[in-house]
Amino acid sequence: MKVKFNEIATGDAIAAPAYTGAALSDAAKALDAESGGAITRALKTSRFTGAPGQVLALSAPSDMSAARLVLFGLGDKKALNGNALEQAAAGVAKSLLTSGAKVLSLRLDGVADLEGAARAGLGARMAAYRFDKYRTRLSDDKKPSLEALEIVVTDAKAAKRTWKDWEPVGDGVELARDLVNEVPNVLGPEEYARRVKKLDKLGLEIEVMGEAAMKKLGMNALLGVGLGSAQESQFIVMKWMGGKDGYQPIAFVGKGVTFDTGGISLKPGEKMDEMKGDMGGSAAVVGLMAALAGRKAKANVIGVIGLVENMPDAKAQRPGDVVTSMSGQTIEILNTDAEGRLVLADALWYTQKQFKPKFMIDLATLTGAILIALGHEPAGIFSSDDRLADQLFKAGKASDEGVWRLPLGPEYDRQIDSDIADMKNIGQGRLAGSITAAQFLKRYTNDVPWCHIDIAGTGMHSGAKDPRLPTFGTGFGVRLLDRLVRDNYEA
Ligand code: BES
Ligand code: MN
Ligand code: ZN
Repeated sequence: MKVKFNEIATGDAIAAPAYTGAALSDAAKALDAESGGAITRALKTSRFTGAPGQVLALSAPSDMSAARLVLFGLGDKKALNGNALEQAAAGVAKSLLTSGAKVLSLRLDGVADLEGAARAGLGARMAAYRFDKYRTRLSDDKKPSLEALEIVVTDAKAAKRTWKDWEPVGDGVELARDLVNEVPNVLGPEEYARRVKKLDKLGLEIEVMGEAAMKKLGMNALLGVGLGSAQESQFIVMKWMGGKDGYQPIAFVGKGVTFDTGGISLKPGEKMDEMKGDMGGSAAVVGLMAALAGRKAKANVIGVIGLVENMPDAKAQRPGDVVTSMSGQTIEILNTDAEGRLVLADALWYTQKQFKPKFMIDLATLTGAILIALGHEPAGIFSSDDRLADQLFKAGKASDEGVWRLPLGPEYDRQIDSDIADMKNIGQGRLAGSITAAQFLKRYTNDVPWCHIDIAGTGMHSGAKDPRLPTFGTGFGVRLLDRLVRDNYEA
């Protein structure tokens, strides 16, 4: 779906907002007048109250060129913000996606400021996203009809300029979703690396390392996870240097397990297919880097992802194995299904050593326990730095990708001490599983300000009610981290 801006509504469907109490916005009042009072007439016999998410659809009178009119709720006028506009536009777009309507005019003139209009565009694009590449028999009436969203604003030229700064975020979210949704027989580490390499067309500098290069660096924790796979593990560094020359970069690190069977500590069969999404952290980093490059962010940013497939095999690592990580610290593998932390241990160590970043943020579908604690929203964050955690929390509020901080502490850290090595890769029993995993990662940060985001709940979500979310891969993290960079780290 294309997003356009115009100063008049030319679509075959025209939507305008109302606030709490079914109070018509100026745009809706204008539309009501143009339609000879069709909207106020329809309101009289409806239960529409202007609450967020509500839509009232009616046929346009015969003297209008549009076929449908839609009144949609924006809730409390005083509380109107980018999040509300994003959600509302998503709701309207979703309701018309396969309706037969081709061009939806969304009247936000006199309603939204420039960023608000762009956020509406982002929301509608998120709602229009589909992963249909493997449906070869989709009947025409099930295919999306909506080709374009035309956002009506008072200054279309200015709105287009603002959109240039937001459209890449939509692209980044779509890219992340496509990677998470892609099937695991297609998207192994090698194909993943090929796809990421192509992003150099955006101006990203991309370096791909295979197993030989990783062996040289001593990344045995990461390499151990990929031993059972027929595919070669990959390590990718993406650079966007849009900030001041020589300015200390910020870094994002992602877990990219393209499929997690659990390895020799094999997972049960039920829902194992969902483990194609165990690379969601890396997908968020890739989507973020694409977004930052696309909108030419004025920041120096490093993106690092470790790509491996966790398979059981004669060559796979065993529970009981001890590996020496790149940091020199040894790890007793007591459960081969706690593999994400092994990948991140080497990725984090490499990142701080190579780039001396101002901070590191890692994203990972790390623990099932975070789903038990927080459900599908918010994401759990763990940080060694209060300021960074606070910035992330605020970015979560502003982007509508929420996070909630959970504790770290020495009493948790002790749980990962091993009897025979420097540490083991699981805690004591199942208690506080997300925290002991985070404590493990902390040992590889070398005291660089760091935050870990556990997106096992937020990164994949089948059957979400939010109109912005498709089934399964959400692209979580792209908007959150784009916002963090936008608000705090651009020159
Ligand atoms: N990828 C999983 C975590 C996960 C579970 C993500 C469910 C999304 C949905 C991770 O590698 C894993 O298996 N974690 C184990 C750790 C345990 C063995 C200490 C878990 O959470 O059970
Ligand atoms: Mn696992
Ligand atoms: Zn995993």
